[in-house]
Amino acid sequence: MAFTPRVFSGIKPSGDLHLGNYLGAIRRFVPLQQTHETIYCVVDMHAITVWQDPEDLRRWTYEIAAAYIAAGLDPNKSIIFNQSQVVEHAELAWIFNCVARVGWMTRMTQFKDKAGAEGGENSEAVSLGLFAYPSLMAADILLYKATGVPVGDDQRQHLELTRDIAKKFNHDFKKQIKGLGVKDDFFPLTETLSTGPAMRVMSLKDGKKKMSKSDASDMSTIYMMDDADTIAKKIKRATTDADALPTEAAGLAGRAEAENLVAIYAALSDTSVDGVLAEFGGSGWGKFKPALAELAVAVLSPIATEMKRLVADTGEMDQILRRNADRARAIAVPVMDDVRKIVGFVR
Ligand code: TYM
Repeated sequence: MAFTPRVFSGIKPSGDLHLGNYLGAIRRFVPLQQTHETIYCVVDMHAITVWQDPEDLRRWTYEIAAAYIAAGLDPNKSIIFNQSQVVEHAELAWIFNCVARVGWMTRMTQFKDKAGAEGGENSEAVSLGLFAYPSLMAADILLYKATGVPVGDDQRQHLELTRDIAKKFNHDFKKQIKGLGVKDDFFPLTETLSTGPAMRVMSLKDGKKKMSKSDASDMSTIYMMDDADTIAKKIKRATTDADALPTEAAGLAGRAEAENLVAIYAALSDTSVDGVLAEFGGSGWGKFKPALAELAVAVLSPIATEMKRLVADTGEMDQILRRNADRARAIAVPVMDDVRKIVGFVR
């Protein structure tokens, strides 16, 4: 069956947005608006899989929705809403909990990393929600029969699992799906949209560590709300080696920090790594870092200013989120009606 080309993606309100979220996700959401039906969610139900202060959760929820809009998403075009307003996400996640296998979840590296950080997989400190997290993520995507999901590299494994869940559902309920008059698959095998530079933005202090919301060192992460001076200072102090930049991408092999900064420049200027090296190859950091700082400020500062303006008016934000949750529901409800029939729930 041909599925409507539809894009879904989401960000967890569990910390301040950073450059990795911007380059790996938000920036790439914008052009997809022109070619696809686009749904961008603030996944608050995912955030609470680890403890969130309710006040922070609310603030970050508004901040992410504001970042979407400030970065160029049009809330009259893209569907921008927070997950918990559309309860069907939870209902489908439960059904997927019964489709997915425990073994699939235990293989998830993000779970292993996080559970490890919380004191071990068997620890009393790890929530059941954290374990089932990928099942909710599959529900987010498949509730809208999304065909493509733009995400950073760290989410690839979760999307493979989404495809596994879709495959098993399509297979296990083949007869019932046919009975509904659907010729082929009920759920699409969703594609991961993750190409281009900076799909994994690394820490400014350690080129082998991912830039993340939870890094202990503030200097390793550029936040979307950082002011111009802070951004410039962080880039100036970013760890690098002593060599000049190479003239070709191959010359970055084994130079994780240099590779990261060049990839960031490429993504912020919509060029390729080779394009950046054609301009800066042979230059030292004394030339490259100020150019990168200037570029980062030019891109991020106007977005931060607009984010601040938007979050100041929570009444307006509430209206946008509510209105868009209605639009999301208009797609989700009929899909969920079919799913209930397929699994045999009486209504
Ligand atoms: P989250 O909130 O951790 O991250 C949001 C998006 O930012 C990307 N990202 C990065 N990209 C490049 N470099 C980095 N250092 C970096 N850090 C984060 C992530 O890849 C992601 O695209 N499970 C998801 C949220 C989610 C979701 C979904 C995504 C829930 N349901 C359905 C897509 C579709 C997460 O925790 O993202």
